[in-house]
Amino acid sequence: ADFLSRLDEIIAAHQGREGPLLPILHDIQAEWGHVPEEAQPVIAAALGLTRAEVYGVVSFYHDFHDRPQARHVLRLCRAEACQSMGADALADQVRAALGIDWHETTPDGRLTLEPVFCLGLCACAPSAQVGERLLGRADLAKVQKLVAEAGM
Ligand code: FES
Repeated sequence: ADFLSRLDEIIAAHQGREGPLLPILHDIQAEWGHVPEEAQPVIAAALGLTRAEVYGVVSFYHDFHDRPQARHVLRLCRAEACQSMGADALADQVRAALGIDWHETTPDGRLTLEPVFCLGLCACAPSAQVGERLLGRADLAKVQKLVAEAGM
């Protein structure tokens, strides 16, 4: 579904209820990882609020973001020991699977990819890190599993 029709569905699901704004914002954030700015006037019109009121709620609660946030950083080691064990090929696979390049964030705002130079796991290269968790002898499947376990 395109953005506006999905947004309409979410609004419609809560509109008749008491206090619909917070559940609408929660659902929007679950869908897109943040509350897109362009959604705010639509919500305001549907609920008979001003844009400032909607914006005020989005910015008041720390749970809500008005732009994409990287919830997690995936680091792939690019230093020598990992290079010699296929780090470049792994990085190519990961970038293709995520559809992002170095320093970029996935469209849902949940994951940013960064290079790192040695994670101290040279003996089990190639290595990767998601949040605080380290991964040795990394391959695409293991990286994806770690990313999934981190809640993405
Ligand atoms: Fe990759 Fe040390 S070179 S962990």
